[in-house]
Parts: sequence; structure tokens; C-alpha cells
Amino acid sequence: MKILRLDELVAQGKLAGRRVFIRADLNVPQDAAGHITEDTRIRASVPCIQMALAAGAAVMVTSHLGRPTEGQFNPEDSLAPVAQRLGELLGREVRLVSNWVDGVQVEPGQVVLLENCRINPGEKKNSEALARKMAALCDIFVNDAFGTAHRAEGTTHGIARFAPLACAGPLLSAEVDAITKALSAPKRPLLAIVAGSKVSTKLTILQSLAAKVDGLIVGGGIANTFMLAAGLKIGKSLAEPALLDAAKTVIAALAARGAAVPIPVDVVCAKHFAADAPATVKDANAVDDDDLILDIGPKTAALLAAQLKAAGTIVWNGPVGVFEFDAFSHGTEVIARAIAASPAFSIAGGGDTLAAIAKYGIASELGYISTGGGAFLEMLEGKTLPALDILAQRANA
Ligand code: 3PG
Repeated sequence: MKILRLDELVAQGKLAGRRVFIRADLNVPQDAAGHITEDTRIRASVPCIQMALAAGAAVMVTSHLGRPTEGQFNPEDSLAPVAQRLGELLGREVRLVSNWVDGVQVEPGQVVLLENCRINPGEKKNSEALARKMAALCDIFVNDAFGTAHRAEGTTHGIARFAPLACAGPLLSAEVDAITKALSAPKRPLLAIVAGSKVSTKLTILQSLAAKVDGLIVGGGIANTFMLAAGLKIGKSLAEPALLDAAKTVIAALAARGAAVPIPVDVVCAKHFAADAPATVKDANAVDDDDLILDIGPKTAALLAAQLKAAGTIVWNGPVGVFEFDAFSHGTEVIARAIAASPAFSIAGGGDTLAAIAKYGIASELGYISTGGGAFLEMLEGKTLPALDILAQRANA
């Protein structure tokens, strides 16, 4: 997919003295008092802003924060804490501008943050009237919001239709490059780990990956459904019996290509779901009717770790057990450390996966960590993301 990139415009000297509108994804978690608890997305957005400033542009940045009601401003929806943190990271004051749709005062060399874009009526429904007004604020629209690239909203799609120039910022470009590298021309073997509570929420990802990967490692409730499909008993574990046929189809699709879904050979069980529930390792064919499977067992973890260490490319979404509970975290830790130790190009994404990466301190050993949640998953599904689609249309117009 050919899209125009910000660094190409910088190299052509096209930013000097120009008004640049950057859509970033600064949607960060906050505590009850509004303090930012995790600022990865803000830090990841800094290079684009710095690139535009260094090139002499007048820079406007906006983002959504949460899911506010359009047309209503509530203080908890404000980007004020983000403006503060962004200012610290940029080493300069970042002025927060409210009611900005009809005009923004900003000079070359300055950066302003435009208040939560989802407050503007028409943003969610991608209103053409709003999009045209926002496009009129700038000479160049830069989308750097990978985390929101699966949304067709005013600031992710509409503005890109009407801005004089529309391009991808460095974060969006890097995300797309990393996922393309992992899935389009991967070094083989390509292994994917897809874990989570339900097959239903990740079925299209499983189906899409089944056509590409050399091994599809499933975990969590998803693995339980695959164990059932393989004829194993899973006691009272979380599973979706209605999706047994879907799981069998995924297994068959991989088998037809000489690939496999490794089914656990052992599991860690408890009698109830609690951090202090006694954990018992059992062979996969010895699960009792009143057992809950909460992790893969040590033999399974070792087998998977060996495969991961021999992989050429690894795509990771989801912890394989209830890693928040120490007694059921071993499988996820072994998998995480195997990915870290593997020479494979590895890419990881999704909220729980990022929490596991942080817990085991392996961030610097992965090839790429995505800032996207839903957007990362939709890329794995092979979907065309609306924010990328419109940039491609503009590049090819
Ligand atoms: C996210 O947190 O995944 C993105 O910022 C998108 O947020 P949304 O699901 O509210 O569109």
C-alpha cells in the first residue's frame, strides 16, 4: 500500500512555514484523580511533533481521550494532563486550545494541543462539514494515530479527504512497516500466539492467520476450546462449545498447509478462580470435571519455548494463562522469555500483552511493540484500516 510519509515531505522542504495538523493517539489511561498512569502513547507521539517543528511548521496536534459525548465538555474529558506531559517531554510549553474548529492561532516553530477531538459534533460519524472545516485549518494533515487507525472518524479519515496534503507520520509508518514485515514477507517459520478468553472475539484473526503462519499457538479460553475440539476434557473451564466446528476448521486449514495448532500436553488447574487457589499441574488428558484450566503446564511451555526460539518471525497477542495470579503466570512468563531470547523478528500488541511484557521486563528484547489495541488486531485480521485506506487513496490520486 503506497502512502505519502511525513519524512518525504520534510526532505522536500514542504513543511517550512506551513500549518501542519497532526492527529495523534494520546488516549492514555488515567487514575480517578486524572493523573496519567501510563504514557507510552504520548512518548511515541513525540518524534512526529519534533519532526514537524524542526522542519519549521506551525504545529497543531489533536487526539481523542476516552469516549466523551459530542457537544458536551466535561473536565474529565480534557487533554489538559496530556498537554502537561507532552510539554515535559518536548521541553517547551504546550498550549491547550479549546473550541478550535473555526480557527487556531499558531505560528511557525510553535506547537499547540487542540482539545479532545471527540467533543466536536460530527467527529464520530465522520461528518463532511466538520472534516472540511478541520482541513481548512492546515496545509498538511499528518495521521500519526495508529491506535485509532481502525476508526473512520473526522480526524482519522474525513480531514484526510480534504486537506491539501495528507500523509502518515513516523509512528503510523513504523507500525504499518512492522506488521507488514511480520505478515507479508516474514522470515520463516512464522509463529503466531493468539490468546485470550474467547474464540469468538478473535475468530477472524485465527482464520486469517491460519492461511499465513507455520504454527498457531493458542492460549487462555481460546486454547480450552481448541482442546475440546481435539477431543480433550476441560472440566468447567471457560470455553465456547458453539465454536468447536470453527476451531476444527482452523486446525484443518493449518494441517492442509503442513502447519499446526499445538494442543497443550499439560495444564495448570484450580478448583476455583482466585489468586490463592491451589494450583495443580495435570496432563491434558487428566482434567477433572470440577477443574478450571488457568495456565499451560510446564511441559507445554517448554515445547512452545523451543519452537519460539527456532522461529524466524513471531506475532504475539495475548497471555496464555491468568498471568496476573502468580500461581498461573508461569506459562506466560516462559513464553515471554522465549520470545525475548529468540533471534526471530517479534511483534507484540494488545493491552494484556503489553502488561505481560512490562511485568517480565522484556520490552527492549522485542522487535516491535505496537501502540494499537483494536487497530493491531484488525491489521492481524488482514482488514484494510480506514485511516490508511484514505492516505493510500490520496497518495494515488
Ligand atoms: C485505543 O485505546 O485502542 C484507541 O485509542 C482507540 O480508542 P477507541 O476504541 O475509543 O476508538
